Amino acid sequence: MSEKVLLKKTKNISKETPVKIAVAKGDGIGPEIMDATLKILKAAGANIALEFIELGEKAYLSGNTSGIGAKAWEAISKNKIIFKAPITTPQGKGYKSLNVTLRKSLGLFANVRPVAGLSPYVHTHFPNMDVVIIRENEEDLYAGIEHRQTQDVVQCLKLITRPGCERIVRYAFEYARAYGRKKVTCMVKDNIMKLTDGLFHQVFDEIATEYPDIQNGVQIIDIGSARLAAKPENYDVIVTSNLYGDIISDIAAEIGGSVGMAGSANIGKNVSMFEAIHGSAPDIAGKKIANPSGLINAAVMMLAHIGQNEIADKIKNAWLTTLEQGHHTADIYQEGISSRKVNTQEFADAVIDNLDNLPEQLSPSTLAEGKGAIQIPEYHRKSQKKELVGVDVFIDWEGNDPNEIGDALSAIEVYKLKLKMITNRGVKVYPTGHEETYCTDHWRCRFVAVDAEINRKEPVYLPIDFEKVVALLYKLNQEGFDVIKTENLYEFDGKRGFSLGQGE
Ligand code: NAI
Ligand code: MG
Repeated sequence: MSEKVLLKKTKNISKETPVKIAVAKGDGIGPEIMDATLKILKAAGANIALEFIELGEKAYLSGNTSGIGAKAWEAISKNKIIFKAPITTPQGKGYKSLNVTLRKSLGLFANVRPVAGLSPYVHTHFPNMDVVIIRENEEDLYAGIEHRQTQDVVQCLKLITRPGCERIVRYAFEYARAYGRKKVTCMVKDNIMKLTDGLFHQVFDEIATEYPDIQNGVQIIDIGSARLAAKPENYDVIVTSNLYGDIISDIAAEIGGSVGMAGSANIGKNVSMFEAIHGSAPDIAGKKIANPSGLINAAVMMLAHIGQNEIADKIKNAWLTTLEQGHHTADIYQEGISSRKVNTQEFADAVIDNLDNLPEQLSPSTLAEGKGAIQIPEYHRKSQKKELVGVDVFIDWEGNDPNEIGDALSAIEVYKLKLKMITNRGVKVYPTGHEETYCTDHWRCRFVAVDAEINRKEPVYLPIDFEKVVALLYKLNQEGFDVIKTENLYEFDGKRGFSLGQGE
């Protein structure tokens, strides 16, 4: 890449109104790395107006169990962009994760984590790795809806929504376009979770067709993670749901050799938050030796997000140059490769000295013309015909012969609702199960209208009124069954909206 292309005409951003940013200096090493990073932002000419807010330890200890007080909330809703150093969550019960609180309260639906190999300056086995993980940030098993249903069984609800999938998948493709990426890979487990992960996959396929300029692919998460760990250079942008994304983004950061170096963005419709991925490192706090790179990279992402791409490139290239020159903090110092062991401030000063330089070995950063935040269109629900065709009744029963409960339930018929099958932990045990199947005290009993051709492979279900379900529950209760919960069985536009039991 020639210098001419890299040092594009500078749009005179200093004439524009500064972008307001709420800055939290955090705890532990937070203030040290934040001061160093803000000094670089100032020297590079970032056009931003800062308002400092208090988050974390002090807020926790002054009685806010979520680590954030009213004043900080006010500043966030005014500023819309949060630049946050790591905070310390005090040990002990009753303190809620501030990150989870911020993500959920502010609708920060996308977590974006780029990881690139910087070998030989930072040790990694994967010098050509350059991956961005885009993780759904609000849904999935992290909705935190859990129940104990019987003595032996607890449950966590996995919630996947169409608007949630559309938002994150579209964000991933828009991100790929905005940042010159070539391919988006979706990771799911829809061979097992056909409805939840199936929806994520389906939405991915639908949206991918709108981006013919970006390659796309889908991988099952287990083999996908294994391949990511073995050959990360084969991946570009990865989009996935919350739990898988949590796991693979840590894998990616770790194999990139740069847990202390990576930045991340939490993107919402109105508010976005930028931070390093590491914590407050209490073991080295106050020693002024922490590596500010994670926060510097977060700042670069923030500048790109607000459309100040040239400043973002300038800082990123100065940072790459500094690493190439071997000015390394203790955590990345390598005998024979590093030229000088620097502290936090010396590292920041070296970056500032390099603000007009481009790296010679590492690929320089060249962001496209600044477009600012990626906009995702509003979700519009399409109307579908929803019909109730049965009910799964979950019963707590301590016996262990499925035929006993099965025969007793088969004798019950309410308004033509009749038992179709029973599963235990998802495996069909009645009628005709396997003796070997282990049964707990948690029985899922499926009732459908009798007229349905119950034994067909894909039965035709008949619509029923909810009244009939209520009557069935009344009857089951009268007969002494311990009903712990129900799930209605619906069809949407004639398509089955529930999974079949294994062996059904
Ligand atoms: P940590 O990331 O703070 O530290 C892990 C290890 O990495 C330590 O040995 C530390 O010295 C080192 N390290 C981390 N960042 C470094 C840097 N910039 N330069 C040089 N070395 C660095 O993780 P840990 O110890 O599990 O957590 C400490 C505190 O941070 C806890 O209170 C935790 O809740 C909080 N935390 C906050 C996060 C946030 O605010 N986003 C994220 C992760 C943890
Ligand atoms: Mg995690």
